[in-house]
Amino acid sequence: MSNKPENLTLITDDGLRLDGRRADEIRPMKIEIGVLSRADGSCYLEWGRNKILVGVFGPREAHPRRSQRADAAVIRYRYNMASFSVEDRARPGPSRRSIEISKVSREAFEPVIMAELFPKTAIDIFVEVLQADAGTRTAAINASSIALADAGIPMKGLITSCAFGKVDGQIVLDLNKEEDNYGEADFPVAMTQDGEITLIQMDGHLTPEEIKKGLELVKKGCKEILEIQQAVLRKKFETPVEEISEET
Ligand code: CDP
Repeated sequence: MSNKPENLTLITDDGLRLDGRRADEIRPMKIEIGVLSRADGSCYLEWGRNKILVGVFGPREAHPRRSQRADAAVIRYRYNMASFSVEDRARPGPSRRSIEISKVSREAFEPVIMAELFPKTAIDIFVEVLQADAGTRTAAINASSIALADAGIPMKGLITSCAFGKVDGQIVLDLNKEEDNYGEADFPVAMTQDGEITLIQMDGHLTPEEIKKGLELVKKGCKEILEIQQAVLRKKFETPVEEISEET
């Protein structure tokens, strides 16, 4: 969030944003499932100009042994930005930012992953951001949800994530890069299928009324994303009725 150049208008008088969206619209999303043959589950997701690859491994014996939990699997989430994913080269290796994003994203999944079924094991979620254009943590969570399902990890439901923000004084859904740079606030959220919030963060300033309005927008965005996620999973896992009747 930096100072906006005086002549830059992010939302026109007609209510259109720089990429042609209205305030309540998310960027186009494309999901591919099972793209990595060595991972137990994987997903490639494009959301606007974001490109994210996720590999899930496990449940597998947790190493080092002292990291094991006797009563459940440990969930590990590593968010990494490729050095070529941003305009200025990102320094390789963990940063304060990537450690924070990894932590909050892992916590966003903990309420739904049935870790108690797999004591002493680890479930690893590796996120590689190949191209970043604002909203990479939310994009990565949406992709991880699919990769976890692809790996067959038992979950109580999918996690879906989307941000809202404040741009030119208006509350809008799913900020793009210009809006993230020159907007007044960014508020990423993740939630369960039942709408229970598992991640909430805020950068900038918002009034309680603005947050209330933004959360309503985010609920709408997450519902749309959930439908996209479910369609992808159905396409991969649903056996056509004809095939079942042929087999029996
Ligand atoms: O990506 P997300 O919105 O979850 O996180 P952010 O910290 O709010 O970053 C917003 C955007 O800034 C990223 O999506 C990148 O496009 C950009 N960024 C960058 O250019 N260089 C970095 N080292 C980190 C972020």
